[in-house]
Amino acid sequence: MRTRLDHLVTSALQHGSAVPAFTCYDFTTAMAVVAAAEEAGRGAILLVAPKTAATPNGLRLIGALRGLADAASVPVAVQLDHATDLQVMADAVAAGADSVLADGSALPYEDNIALVRGARSLLGPDVVLEAELGGLAGDEDRAFGADQSGVAVAGLTDSALVEDFVSRTGAELLAVAVGNVHGKYKGEPQLRWDVLQDIAVRTHIPLVLHGASGIPAEELVKAAAMNVGKVNFNTELRTGVLATLQDQLPGHRSDGENLQGLLGHWNSSARTFAAQTLATLTR
Ligand code: 13P
Repeated sequence: MRTRLDHLVTSALQHGSAVPAFTCYDFTTAMAVVAAAEEAGRGAILLVAPKTAATPNGLRLIGALRGLADAASVPVAVQLDHATDLQVMADAVAAGADSVLADGSALPYEDNIALVRGARSLLGPDVVLEAELGGLAGDEDRAFGADQSGVAVAGLTDSALVEDFVSRTGAELLAVAVGNVHGKYKGEPQLRWDVLQDIAVRTHIPLVLHGASGIPAEELVKAAAMNVGKVNFNTELRTGVLATLQDQLPGHRSDGENLQGLLGHWNSSARTFAAQTLATLTR
């Protein structure tokens, strides 16, 4: 069943769990995520990248994901991820997304607030808004190995701004920068749990950890205790699917150009990853 993203996250946090969110560039991956969530009896979030949502095919994908969420036996939310463009937000919501990350994290502080407020007035009260304070290194769609040093220090969420930011944006969730990066980590991830803790005591709204690929499970399990109710994955899911496809492609080509069989492997790679992640984040 399709569910408000903030309700899904809040209810997971009440049980000491966080909800995984997975970037879905395609329907095969989304079906795998929902199947894993149904098998685990847990909710999940389907993320749509802004570059996807900016195309006519991407808007059709959002409509299909909404149908998938509606028909699921567990709570599923569909969110437009990292949107900076109000038109893309409006189009994605019209196509079926019920939540948006209005991402002004690369903007000056007041402009960041203005973007989230602009999203609210455009999209209305029923669309769940996530906002982001602090900057993450790395690319959301391509994994080249993001350096945490320097960027992490410059981009860390300033906990002193959190109360003001949350109250003035009216966001329902807050994405934070605590040493997390999009894409691959160069070296070991060095999450600043001290900063996260400082943020967590300054707001009651759920926090969101982006760039979870590459963060060890034993670290991720600590997140919910610091009010991190949503954890975003993309790179690790892609890495697994692409490795599987590379491995399986020759055999499936020689097996009569067997695309159907190849898609089955794509689905099971994504499903295994989603199942492992759900198990890690669930208490
Ligand atoms: P990773 O690609 O590092 O997992 O980040 C995903 C993400 O944060 C999507 O919003």
